[in-house]
Amino acid sequence: MKFFIDTANLDQIKEANDLGILDGVTTNPSLMAKEGVKGADAVMKHYETICEMVDGDISAEVVSTETQAIIEEGKKLAAIHPNIVVKVPMIKDGIKAIKWFSDNGIKTNCTLVFSAGQAILAAKAGANYLSPFIGRIDDSGWEGIQLIQQIANIFAIQGFKTEILAASIRNTNHIIQCAEAGANVVTSPLEPILGLLKHPLTDIGLAKFLEDAKKFQ
Ligand code: E4P
Repeated sequence: MKFFIDTANLDQIKEANDLGILDGVTTNPSLMAKEGVKGADAVMKHYETICEMVDGDISAEVVSTETQAIIEEGKKLAAIHPNIVVKVPMIKDGIKAIKWFSDNGIKTNCTLVFSAGQAILAAKAGANYLSPFIGRIDDSGWEGIQLIQQIANIFAIQGFKTEILAASIRNTNHIIQCAEAGANVVTSPLEPILGLLKHPLTDIGLAKFLEDAKKFQ
């Protein structure tokens, strides 16, 4: 399973990348706004900086909603760096644009996926990744992880090549559940990733080893 970080914050991207386990980055307009990135040029520059920091797929989201405009915007984003993956919303015009990108060698991530039917359409259109938002499904009173399992089952039966990129991760357990459920990628904020490191018995065990080591040093 690949690990992406879900942020536009450069310090957090660096911290995750320094762990040596990072395979990519996802962003969205809300995450860019949170970092105070303003204006088309600044946004393009921010994506470029992320691409220079991390050697892996970097999702950059379009804000257009009409097929031709999505294509034009996506072409500009893809021109920033070969690792850019154009993130396209799961709408009718988005599906048409994903098909165009797929036919023209531009990588895509179909975002805002909340059902198996949407996942099948994204795969048929040739998306490289699709992003089911499991945290937001949990927030609405359903089990987001069940959607990952369902899509993974369908894709195994049908042989779809689109990678399941589990998004909207809220906690460390989500990451573990996604691994169990067959997600190909998890994109998570930094805290849940760092949470994977933690276990009180590790801390207690290490403290004891270090204490005992003093006896023979
Ligand atoms: C997906 O790629 C999105 O950037 C993200 O995971 C959404 O997460 P949220 O529900 O925490 O906003």
